[in-house]
Amino acid sequence: METFVTFAQLAEEIAREAGEMLVAKRPARPEVLATKSSPTDVVTALDRASEELIRTRIRTVRPDDAILGEEGGSTGDGRVRWIVDPIDGTVNFLYGLPDWAVSIAVEIDGEVVAGAVNVVPRGEVFTAARGEGAWLAGERLHCNTGVPLNRALIATGFGYDAGRRRVQAEVLAGVLPAVRDIRRGGSAAADLCSVAAGRVDGYYERGPQTWDYSAGGLVAVEAGARIGGLNGRPHGPGLTVCAAPGLFEELCDLLAPLDPERDA
Ligand code: IPD
Repeated sequence: METFVTFAQLAEEIAREAGEMLVAKRPARPEVLATKSSPTDVVTALDRASEELIRTRIRTVRPDDAILGEEGGSTGDGRVRWIVDPIDGTVNFLYGLPDWAVSIAVEIDGEVVAGAVNVVPRGEVFTAARGEGAWLAGERLHCNTGVPLNRALIATGFGYDAGRRRVQAEVLAGVLPAVRDIRRGGSAAADLCSVAAGRVDGYYERGPQTWDYSAGGLVAVEAGARIGGLNGRPHGPGLTVCAAPGLFEELCDLLAPLDPERDA
């Protein structure tokens, strides 16, 4: 019988395997195979190879589970669903920057219960199991607490669509003067793990999809952070905000009047 912890272990094992393949096969200059929502939203052959490896491994051990992958879409309809981002931070992967990750979450009846985020170039695999904590290299993670908004280091990211970016820049102009500083790492999954590890104090972004934030979101929550949307709504592609309780509310109060859930 699988538990949330054994699901996390399996997700970690598979995320490590995909990471090893990606390191072994990454050419010095990976080629763009296709573009998606805009000419800057790229897919490489290795995004697809990574997802195929992950799908094959999941199917071998858990043939009845559903899988949702960024590249391959939805397959199966079991109560257990694996949510896979084969490379989160594909642009970093393309340029050889260190923040890209393999992200694998496990959902049961619609609730994320386990996850692993392998930030491959950094050699760091973050894991979490619901109710059991978040972990990195055998250490339990705790997000920063008691940080006021004006001392908070906040991670964010930008979409691929020009109209969305115009609004994101406007929102940023409202956020930047109110916080310590901003970081744009290039991987939502890694950003959420950075909240968990206290490397940033908070995160917000419009646009990331369930494969970008499911595993990292659980890691952050299990490290004590709160994740959600504005005005008590759940987080999602419309907006995801994440920070320790206290800072979370302050960040939401700053964001709400800036109307960040719109596109130009
Ligand atoms: C992207 C990254 C990035 C975020 C974008 C995402 P991808 O995922 O997570 O940090 O700002 O919104 O789309 O396209 O590299 O899998």
